[in-house]
Amino acid sequence: MHQAGNTTYSPAPEPLEAPYPPGSLDPARAALDTAAVAERHPAYAKFGQELGNTSLIEVPGPRGGATVLAKCEWENPAGSIKDRVAHALLGSVLQRHGARPLGELRILEYSGGSLANALSRLCADLGVPARFVLSSASPRSLLDTLAGRGARVDLVDKERGFLEVVREALRIAAAEPGWTLLYQHRNPANVLLQERTTGAELIGQLGGRAPAAWVASIGTGGTLVGVLRALRARFPAVRAVGVTPAELPYGSEQPPNGRRKYAGSGGMGHGIRQPFVTLYDDETEQRTVSYPRAFAAMGEFHDLTGLRIGSSAAANWLAAGEVAAALPPSATVVTVFPDAGTPEEWERLGR
Ligand SMILES: Cc1ncc(COP(=O)(O)O)c(C=O)c1O
Repeated sequence: MHQAGNTTYSPAPEPLEAPYPPGSLDPARAALDTAAVAERHPAYAKFGQELGNTSLIEVPGPRGGATVLAKCEWENPAGSIKDRVAHALLGSVLQRHGARPLGELRILEYSGGSLANALSRLCADLGVPARFVLSSASPRSLLDTLAGRGARVDLVDKERGFLEVVREALRIAAAEPGWTLLYQHRNPANVLLQERTTGAELIGQLGGRAPAAWVASIGTGGTLVGVLRALRARFPAVRAVGVTPAELPYGSEQPPNGRRKYAGSGGMGHGIRQPFVTLYDDETEQRTVSYPRAFAAMGEFHDLTGLRIGSSAAANWLAAGEVAAALPPSATVVTVFPDAGTPEEWERLGR
């Protein structure tokens, strides 16, 4: 990924629910010259070389329905689609930091798990201190990995939901300005990198085959919206389908809850909607998948294909299958498999 210009986005800690005006995703707001950053930082360059160009595979779909294709994001260096996000968000900060010593930089972010995993690896390789706000429901394997990489972790009680995880990071950023918050839910680089990498790869892999629908689970909505923007530029008629947990759907008016949900995704509660997705609300269909269904589908998919997909991938697989069932066999539905699941989930599945 290379882009001319050197204007970078300065993440300002606006509240999550502040309006996200049209124009916020103007590419000039996240101009990133990853080549220049890579030249200065070999560890960043190495991570970038291993990133992306993930496989697009045909997956089991409904009999008599459309073909379902999925992009295998566990192939990224730290094992998830969030490796792309870590690379872009940290790249923007490194670009802005310039030639100053990396020891002066301190990175702060909240995460559902995958982004913290990716960022902690990049930061450890670079020698940049990292601090993550996570839910107390985070798996032991992740907490051990972060501790092993020297990252600092602040846990928020899972009953308070992901909304309070985000807000805790905002509170830290406001109170301790020495920490640079990446702010994945409002940082345009999160969408633009998905548009330029995942979306562009997908278009190349489709080889001119027009997809009827793009189905993606919503955490920040960066994947859904970024890839949608790329697809729409080439295939204007493509439908957008967002997927969130049935336990707290997108835009739910309910308060956040501590119920188990499939990974990395979910509504915020109190009617708060993910800023990127608000820009595409009128054009996006919403579906929900419960954790028990997604968890069972991990096992079913493994039985059918021998492949391990995570719970958000399983949710996307189920939702894409529902969309495909209502389309003719000549149609194509595309989706994404963000990761391969956690050791804890595979242990619970007894595999
Ligand atoms: C495993 C997993 N699936 C899906 C997502 C959703 O990605 P996005 O933030 O681009 O909406 C995430 C985000 O953290 C994730 O970790």
